[in-house]
Amino acid sequence: MLDFSIISELQIPKIDLSNIEWPRFDLSRIRWSQIPKLRIGDSVAKLPIVQGGMGVGISLSGLASAVANEGGIGVIAANSIGMLDPDYYARHRDANVVALRKEIRKAKEKTSGIIGVNIMVAVTDFHALLMVAIEEKVDMVFLGAGLPIKGIPVEELRSARVKVVPIVSSARAAGLIFRSWLKKYKDIPDGVVVEGPKAGGHLGFKEDQIDDPDFALERILPDVVAEIKTYEDKFRRAIPVIAAGGVFTGADIYNLFKLGASGVQMGTRFVGTHECDADIRFKESYISCREGDIEIIKSPVGMPGRAIGNKFLKDVSSGEKKGIKCAWKCLKSCDITNAPYCISLALDNARKGVLEKGFAFAGSNAFRIDEIISVKELLQELQKQYLCAEEKGAGRLRSEYEKALEKLVSLKEEYLIGVSSLKDEYEMGIEKGIATLREEYLRSMDKIRSLKTKYVKAVDDANFLKKELIELFERYSLFNRLNTEEI
Ligand SMILES: Cc1cc2nc3c(=O)[nH]c(=O)nc-3n(C[C@H](O)[C@H](O)[C@H](O)COP(=O)(O)O)c2cc1C
Repeated sequence: MLDFSIISELQIPKIDLSNIEWPRFDLSRIRWSQIPKLRIGDSVAKLPIVQGGMGVGISLSGLASAVANEGGIGVIAANSIGMLDPDYYARHRDANVVALRKEIRKAKEKTSGIIGVNIMVAVTDFHALLMVAIEEKVDMVFLGAGLPIKGIPVEELRSARVKVVPIVSSARAAGLIFRSWLKKYKDIPDGVVVEGPKAGGHLGFKEDQIDDPDFALERILPDVVAEIKTYEDKFRRAIPVIAAGGVFTGADIYNLFKLGASGVQMGTRFVGTHECDADIRFKESYISCREGDIEIIKSPVGMPGRAIGNKFLKDVSSGEKKGIKCAWKCLKSCDITNAPYCISLALDNARKGVLEKGFAFAGSNAFRIDEIISVKELLQELQKQYLCAEEKGAGRLRSEYEKALEKLVSLKEEYLIGVSSLKDEYEMGIEKGIATLREEYLRSMDKIRSLKTKYVKAVDDANFLKKELIELFERYSLFNRLNTEEI
């Protein structure tokens, strides 16, 4: 007999929906309206905005202290700062050291906020300027125009609590600096500025990369963030990535934060402030320029640069050689015999407003500046725009989230329906299975029964035949015997 108890023992799978965690977020606990602070080592800026160092003499103690007073990070540009001294050509490199020390002290008198110094690795007195920053205990140094790897006095920097922030234009450069520091100094820098090709001043890109979308800030920033992340994990220390180049509005800041930036560095916008240390004619050249006036130049430093085109630059590019008075080859890579002009002198002239004998470095957005405002106004405007962008972003996020929740609810319902119909089908399936099996069994039993009848009948027939045969045989034998006896 078939055993149907096996089938009834089969278990219907039990899925306990109460065990499934459906995400529940409390949106009301998220604070949407606050611009994030920027922490670099032990310095915390109320605003995540670094005023980019601008040489020669564009960002000195005036601009840097104004930015620091408003909660940003103010930066004094150190390169050729000695040109402020009328005796520069007599005192050259010493003038730089003296002027930098003086500007740092002046800035510190005007603010208790965060002050940094920007030093180009490419300048001949890089080390001497770095030592001044250490001795004057500035909060941090921003090191660009070259890789700050060799001869960095890390111990002195650490004991003076001066944070180090290299400026790079690629994840590769960032990786190289961090790897080398780790190997050489068993330490890593405290942050990174990643400067994209829309920036003003010297650019860390080849000319054909400047307009290539693959090198846009929005492309290189996430790569730098990813590169730095490995060091953050290893050292269990936050290393902010600060985005620079073409940052103009608070919405730009918001968008860069979405791509992983923890802060921004801005130069061009700070030129359009009352506090910027350049002559008013320098600032006015920003206000009067149009988009098409901003051009890429070949700097004697050996890097491309972005500036507002003028007669001086036109003369130079058509082959004219300007008078050069070189004090002491202030730039390591400057080929003074072949250079058509002295870049430090041209920039210093521009700072003084003598644009016929120089030119203004400027970011690609300089043409958008149409008035000079205070640093306070600028930073308030940027914050307002940031919060507005964040609110819009948050609104978008909230509606996306709500849509996702609705979808989740309908998915849950679908799932529940699915599971219960599966259960029904399964049970039905089993019942159907049993029923089919039972029918088959009964059919087989009928078949067997008819077969048995047929067989029994066949056996009966055979027995009958056998009996008849025996009788026949017996009758035949008797007949034979009788006949023989008669013969
Ligand atoms: C007039 C000017 C001078 C600059 N000088 C320097 C400099 O001496 N060292 C440096 O690392 N960057 C320099 N920069 C770059 C800025 O620090 C900053 O990173 C850049 O301007 C950011 O781009 P943005 O101008 O579009 O905001 C300069 C930029 C300008 C506009």
